[in-house]
Amino acid sequence: MTLAPSDASLRTHAESLWVALSAQLPGLSIEVLPTVDSTNTRLMQQAREGLVGPTVLVAETQTAGRGRMGKAWHTTTHRALTFSLGLPLAPADWSGLSLVVGLSLARSLHPELRLKWPNDLWWQQRKVGGILVETANIAQRPERYVVIGVGLNLDTPSQQAWPNDEAQTMAPQAPAGLCEVLGPEVAVTRGDVLSKVLPGLVADVMRFECEGFGPFAQAFAERDALAGLSVSLSDGQQGVACGLDAHGGLQVQTAQGMMAVTSSTVSVRPC
Ligand code: BTN
Repeated sequence: MTLAPSDASLRTHAESLWVALSAQLPGLSIEVLPTVDSTNTRLMQQAREGLVGPTVLVAETQTAGRGRMGKAWHTTTHRALTFSLGLPLAPADWSGLSLVVGLSLARSLHPELRLKWPNDLWWQQRKVGGILVETANIAQRPERYVVIGVGLNLDTPSQQAWPNDEAQTMAPQAPAGLCEVLGPEVAVTRGDVLSKVLPGLVADVMRFECEGFGPFAQAFAERDALAGLSVSLSDGQQGVACGLDAHGGLQVQTAQGMMAVTSSTVSVRPC
């Protein structure tokens, strides 16, 4: 493995990204902090205080990173890219947004990255990254403020980095780092990875706002890590994952018939 140089270039990448993205997102602010509790928590707080401009907040370290379903997201023992994109959005239908985010990241990063519904990035059945999407009301406006939090492991996390986390309870293998995915010849820095993923993410989220999940469904299916696998649902049921329905729900063939699972009701793992 090539040791990546220091990430001092993160700010330079952030400046270039600001120039590149400001036309699409007028008023965009991109901020890089050495440490913050959680980039999602910070942007959600700001939104509740009425700061609802398009914002990218990148943290070199998070002290209280949050994952889905109330779990912690630990990145203190290995290098990771942790950032949140916040912006006002008013899609006709919100379902599928987190799937689009995962797909966008996977497409920007590597052809072999797969998506474990609803929004984990997997490489060879090992979790490389996760997404936490949250929204807040915006007073007297039709949009909601959406905060899209992205955590990508750059280095391979040690097992101690993942106590009580999905990597141990929901994934069959130890988590992976992008350094493994991209190979020894690629030096992986936070700045490089942010520059790889952010322009595509902004474009895909804006397309989702206008067109919904439909245009992304086929590409998701091509990267669907669960398709055809036996899965266990957190409500105790078992079945075979059969792709997604039109709203991005996971279809599972169970003994009782085909059911559509939504991420707000149950979690799912291969068995
Ligand atoms: C998951 O897999 O459960 C989702 C993990 C999301 C982690 C990212 S890191 C940046 C942003 N800030 C947070 O506190 N969480 C998200």
